[in-house]
Amino acid sequence: SQPIIFDTDPGVDDAQAIAIALAHPEIELLGMTTTYGNVDIETATHNALLLGELAGQKIPVAQGAAAPLVKPKHPAPAHIHGANGLGNIDLPDVKGSALAISAPQFIVDTVNARPGDVSLVAVGPLGNLAAALQLDPSITEKVKQVIVMGGSIKEGGNVTPVAEANIFNDPHAAARVLSAGWPLTLVGLDATHRCVLAPKDMDAIAAGQGKLGRVLAESYAFYRAFYQQALGIDGCCPHDSCALAYLIKPELFTTAKGHLNVATEGVAEGQTVFAPEGREFMAPRWSQTPVVTACLSADGPAVIDWIVSTL
Ligand code: BDR
Ligand code: CA
Repeated sequence: SQPIIFDTDPGVDDAQAIAIALAHPEIELLGMTTTYGNVDIETATHNALLLGELAGQKIPVAQGAAAPLVKPKHPAPAHIHGANGLGNIDLPDVKGSALAISAPQFIVDTVNARPGDVSLVAVGPLGNLAAALQLDPSITEKVKQVIVMGGSIKEGGNVTPVAEANIFNDPHAAARVLSAGWPLTLVGLDATHRCVLAPKDMDAIAAGQGKLGRVLAESYAFYRAFYQQALGIDGCCPHDSCALAYLIKPELFTTAKGHLNVATEGVAEGQTVFAPEGREFMAPRWSQTPVVTACLSADGPAVIDWIVSTL
């Protein structure tokens, strides 16, 4: 099985991904680390704890980044995920609480306890991974792999014409994480926009998940309304679940290796710029930046099937 730490800002699509991580027999969810992003940090931590409890599992949750490393914090996008991150539906009380250690410390301790075993799956802004790298740079040698839902190679952005939300929300953290020289795959909009979860898929998911299913289905209804109004499609892209689909079924994704740089400022702030391996560019940063794997596309229907059958 695949031991993972899930770094998240729940978030409707985060919630579905958490349900997958809790349910999939090949995924061992060692813990969740939370970041601000779709919601503020307290709400993110609350939702991570709640989703574990609704599934009847006691998963450690460590709270992390409350704001970006450098740029000012943006207001949470309440029109997409709801002010409570889960479509403004009524939620039960949370019983447990977060660990006493911070998210970056949890990442460092867990990776060091099982060198070579643990994958980091990050589906929010990347401040926690950046801070973990600063605490202990040797984790680059000890993680099994890092999978980041974020960025866009050719697809264009979803918060600006070029920038995807997780990278845009903390481009300085992203720049550090994406160039740290560890085995990293970017699952960005080029892949996630190929995957559309239709209302009928969601009905099937809601039926199979008990108390958690109700939360997933009702929060999805809110997210669906946003997609209908903003993009004119009846369905949602399950961005964060795609990162887990890549973990378990990488063959469903078309990938390339290359050098990746993040624009941290200016009009292209948050853009991920990719130079496929083998292309020579004169500017030194393009050969000096470590090589990563980027998803260029995905078999959308097969990814959706995987999500629905897992849940
Ligand atoms: C990403 O941004 C967030 O709103 C989603 O949860 C996902 O992680 C998609 O751009
Ligand atoms: Ca997310």
